[in-house]
Amino acid sequence: MKVLSTTTQQDDHFLISDYDYKSTNIEKNGDKYIAKPQITNFKFKTDTRIPKLGVMLVGWGGNNGTTLTGGILANKFNITWNSRRGTHQPNFYGSLTQSSVIKIGTCNTEEVFVPFKDVLPMVNPCDIVFGGWDISSLNLADAMGRAQVVDYDLQQKLRPYLEKLVPLPSIYYPDFIAANQGDRADNVIPGNNKLEHLNIIRKNIADFKQQNNLDKVILLWTANTERFCVEDPNVHGTAEKLMKSIESSHPEISASTIFACAACLEGCSFINGSPQNTIVPGVIELAEKAGVFVAGDDFKTGQTKFKTCLVEYLVGAGIKPKAIISYNHLGNNDGKNLSQESCFKSKERSKKTCVDDILESNKVLYPTEEELNIDHTIVIKYCPETGDSKKAMDEYIAEIFLGGRQTFAVYNVCEDSLLAAPLIMDLLLLCELFERIQFSKDSTEFQRFDTVLSWLSYLMKAPKSESGITTINALSRQRAMLENLVKVCAGLTVDDNLRLEVRYG
Ligand code: NAI
Repeated sequence: MKVLSTTTQQDDHFLISDYDYKSTNIEKNGDKYIAKPQITNFKFKTDTRIPKLGVMLVGWGGNNGTTLTGGILANKFNITWNSRRGTHQPNFYGSLTQSSVIKIGTCNTEEVFVPFKDVLPMVNPCDIVFGGWDISSLNLADAMGRAQVVDYDLQQKLRPYLEKLVPLPSIYYPDFIAANQGDRADNVIPGNNKLEHLNIIRKNIADFKQQNNLDKVILLWTANTERFCVEDPNVHGTAEKLMKSIESSHPEISASTIFACAACLEGCSFINGSPQNTIVPGVIELAEKAGVFVAGDDFKTGQTKFKTCLVEYLVGAGIKPKAIISYNHLGNNDGKNLSQESCFKSKERSKKTCVDDILESNKVLYPTEEELNIDHTIVIKYCPETGDSKKAMDEYIAEIFLGGRQTFAVYNVCEDSLLAAPLIMDLLLLCELFERIQFSKDSTEFQRFDTVLSWLSYLMKAPKSESGITTINALSRQRAMLENLVKVCAGLTVDDNLRLEVRYG
């Protein structure tokens, strides 16, 4: 695609687009709103050189880690396999960047769509070099067998590639994950000195980067859900305090926070795919100083994606959700870990907050704080027989016209890791892309996006935002935000869906 416009310039290294951002400033005057439309000039500068990207996964030997690595290798080497349904070709279904499309304009009256990945230059997922850690020593071929996610024939075909891949020993703080995980922890860095642990992880990252001749590395936590650490401003509040707490091996420093710190100190962005409060203020300060991003929390895959879509639809239609009752049962190792109350609490928290902003936006339906407090109940049960095919059963009860009720009962079978793996890939590819984008507001100096990369909220169950920026959970708004950002950077027009060019030529 080539954009011919007076508002974009391109040379060998950079694509610069000029964008007049239209917004509306609202002033309150008693019970009246005064709306003042305004235009702010932004320039976006995208480095179009694609780097050699390395990714280090924490929890590499888990269901997500093995499914992602194997799935990408299957695509890279075009490995086909048989199941009782016939012969399968590898694909990237479920990936926003690889398998969804964006409307770029109209040709006569026909709308033209291109793959998301083709709007701006992005890393090809098949070129990513993978590495990582796990507290279990199984090589990735055996770990994939343990996960019971991928068809047996594909497991066999991937074995020669995966058996060479063995996770590095990791940090294990048993107090943070379920006690039932202890039996797989045979690949653990010894000792209790958290500073030593941090330094070993830092060295692992530096060695990985150097040995594979990488331009950049991104770290992503896809290990077990930890309990929340008891956050204390004196322990986690600033980069300095956090480093001191690590030096003194403070008990409320989690393994995930050590990985986040190591990433920042090695100049790598860090993504938290689980719900716990890994990204404490001290981590954000470290990331800020290092000029890298942090993003989190918790992958938004099946049930929550649907919830933020359905509730957005109801509230958008002027219908008032009054109760959401979610039952989940799952039989994978994630479910086993979540069967411990402390870890479940982390998940419950991130699942519960996901509709807050959607309800809060509508003061016609929810005029008081009290009414916002809907029945939102989350139940998660571990049932080994279910394996990775998580069952989510949700009942949505909403109030309609004249006191009537509309009830949806939704039964959702999520092949958990087959949904999560493409989403993890998107997080990595988009995070890498955003490292190459800078913006300038009203002709000021170019700067990078905020350290907490809330642009990725479409992919996160409990999106973390910069302080002072409200979190958006509504799925269509999150997607539009991402789509429009890449379009603006490419010099394309943002779509307001009026379709005037189709209607009136
Ligand atoms: P899993 O239990 O199969 O994999 C986690 C891996 O992490 C295990 O191999 C375990 O040995 C390893 N591990 C535990 N502590 C570690 C440590 N300190 N250092 C290194 N490795 C460690 O779980 P799965 O299904 O792969 O999920 C991973 C995470 O992603 C979980 O926290 C889950 O809640 C989260 N998640 C998963 C979603 C999905 O759809 N699959 C959706 C949203 C979040």
